[in-house]
Amino acid sequence: MSTETQHAIDTMLLEERRYPPPEGFAARANAKADIYDLGFEEFWEREGRERLSWFEPFTELYRWDPPYAQWYLGGKLNVCFNCVDRHVAAGHGGKVAYYWEGEPVGERRQITYADLQSEVVRFANALRKLGVRRGTPVAIYMGMVPELPVAMLACTRLGAPHTVVFGGFSADSLAGRMNDMGCEVLITQDEAWRRGSRVPLKQTADEAMAAAPAVRDCVVLRRTGGDVPMREGRDHWWHELVEGESDDPASCPCEPMSSEDLLFLMYTSGTTAKPKGIVHTTAGYLCGVAATHYYIFDLKPEEDVYWCAADIGWITGHSYIVYGPLCNLATSVLYEGTPDYPDKDRWWEIVERYGVTILYTAPTAIRSHMKWGPEYARRHDLSSLRLLGSVGEPINPEAWVWYREHIGSDRTPVVDTWWQTETGMILISPLPGVTTLKPGSATKPFPGVEAAVYDEHGNEVGPGGGGYLVLKRPWPAMLRGIFGDDERYRDTYWSRYENTYFAGDGARIDRDGDFWLLGRVDDVMNVSGHRISTIEVESALVDHPDVAEAAVCSRKDSTTGEAIVAYVTLKAGREPSVKKLQELRDHVARKIGPIAKPANVVFTPELPKTRSGKIMRRLLRDIAENRPLGDTTTLADPAVVAEIQSRAAEEKAQEAEA
Ligand code: WT7
Repeated sequence: MSTETQHAIDTMLLEERRYPPPEGFAARANAKADIYDLGFEEFWEREGRERLSWFEPFTELYRWDPPYAQWYLGGKLNVCFNCVDRHVAAGHGGKVAYYWEGEPVGERRQITYADLQSEVVRFANALRKLGVRRGTPVAIYMGMVPELPVAMLACTRLGAPHTVVFGGFSADSLAGRMNDMGCEVLITQDEAWRRGSRVPLKQTADEAMAAAPAVRDCVVLRRTGGDVPMREGRDHWWHELVEGESDDPASCPCEPMSSEDLLFLMYTSGTTAKPKGIVHTTAGYLCGVAATHYYIFDLKPEEDVYWCAADIGWITGHSYIVYGPLCNLATSVLYEGTPDYPDKDRWWEIVERYGVTILYTAPTAIRSHMKWGPEYARRHDLSSLRLLGSVGEPINPEAWVWYREHIGSDRTPVVDTWWQTETGMILISPLPGVTTLKPGSATKPFPGVEAAVYDEHGNEVGPGGGGYLVLKRPWPAMLRGIFGDDERYRDTYWSRYENTYFAGDGARIDRDGDFWLLGRVDDVMNVSGHRISTIEVESALVDHPDVAEAAVCSRKDSTTGEAIVAYVTLKAGREPSVKKLQELRDHVARKIGPIAKPANVVFTPELPKTRSGKIMRRLLRDIAENRPLGDTTTLADPAVVAEIQSRAAEEKAQEAEA
């Protein structure tokens, strides 16, 4: 057992604080205790009917041909219709969909549902002019501007599947995704604002398009006004393209889609160098995200101001900034920038200005705020907040309690929500009006979700036991596969246990049946809630002309959760230096994106390998965390370890000096 697992178990056993739902909250909650009484089929039937509007009703709830599921068969619907048009038609056109706050202080926009509809219709008409139709794959590479959800919704209106690539990814990453999906159109912007500086998105997009020949048109939003080259015939300014286009919804009707039509791909890191295109389809996804958003965040559309502080470029933003909230007629905050620009109270200023009632963020952000100190939150009136959420990694009880005390005025429930890119929707979470909370536990599977913990042999462990988190039944928003790679889909999620989804996370169940998530059990790292594969970083490193071999692992970090440590062997004749170290870190940023930059690089003449040549990451991890080493007898050359240890110690000493 690793030290980390042991630590998590100790936490579980020692954590005795309990927070029952506040009475007033429970009395008005969208989800009451009896929600757990409904049967699996009953629950999802009801949600499918109540949460969504259908052009044609579904005739079959689900079909399960392991490992592929289909949901709401026979139904016809459109996501944009559900998220926008039906709300305007019902008289909610004047309701604010997004309070947008730009990063430069004072830049603000209010986008009502009626505004959203006109912008989406105009843009969808413009896309049609470029030949975008039902089925045309579209890539989107943008920052957190209102036009990002507009672009996504315009695609769904036309029935064109999209892939949104996070604006922090490199040209290589963008090109790889566009090529994998076969994208024909790319939507981007001149530049994005980040902590006061300009991120050259169009320039990166140009590099990516040079390696993605199938992209024939590129739409460019003017955001910063920075100078960017436009290629004649391929590149189009957004504002010029929509000029003269109608914003009458009848000019561009919502395409009736089948429940199982492809909605989007979201690429995520796995255990190889190539990211996986996770497939999400129309009805099950929308129903899953809308239902979880409604019950877990207890959304009262008429009163709440909801803010999910994630980036739309990740699944959290897709499900809980765009599709779930809009489907539920929420009023949301959309913030473009970082929490510390221009100062560390920016978030709290935003909460105060808009009277935010529900805030959803990641443990890594909470720990940054903890580090900065509660005085920034104290400068502002946060009394509007009534519910807090957390996602992305296991939340340590200290951060959980700090969040509740300093942000939630020691009064609000905190919902720790477990899910994945693959699951599409939250699967394990408290219901804030029902569940007694325990700091550090995601508590119970959502109604209609059957989660369990299995041991190595596929036996379900009882209360008090630990093992691997699995899902025993399909759920509506589950992935429908890995794009173009059936074998990898079966192998990654379905090969360990029969007809049972293997999540890749360790978990324990306590005596009350509450789940405690323990982190990944595969070669996937979690840095600031972002998923990065060790092998992807290794491939980026060996791509550098001076690198012979590289091994990557993570160590614990008090802010980012995990931090990346790279062990690098240089080619003969190349000398380690501080300059070389910087060069390698930059190289990884250029190949993947700044989020994948190693925190430490340790140069070593050799890497520890098993006799069969497999790099021993567990060992490297122990070294990175200064832990006593476990069994090294399978090592081809145990002396290597001592060498690496001393190098790592040197590296640490140098860092401490710096
Ligand atoms: C992995 C999925 C889904 C949104 C963001 C991340 C970890 C996520 C929790 C949580 C413990 C969590 C898991 C999971 N994770 N939420 N509440 N408690 N761990 O999505 O990039 O697909 O990563 O994040 O390890 O497998 P993702």
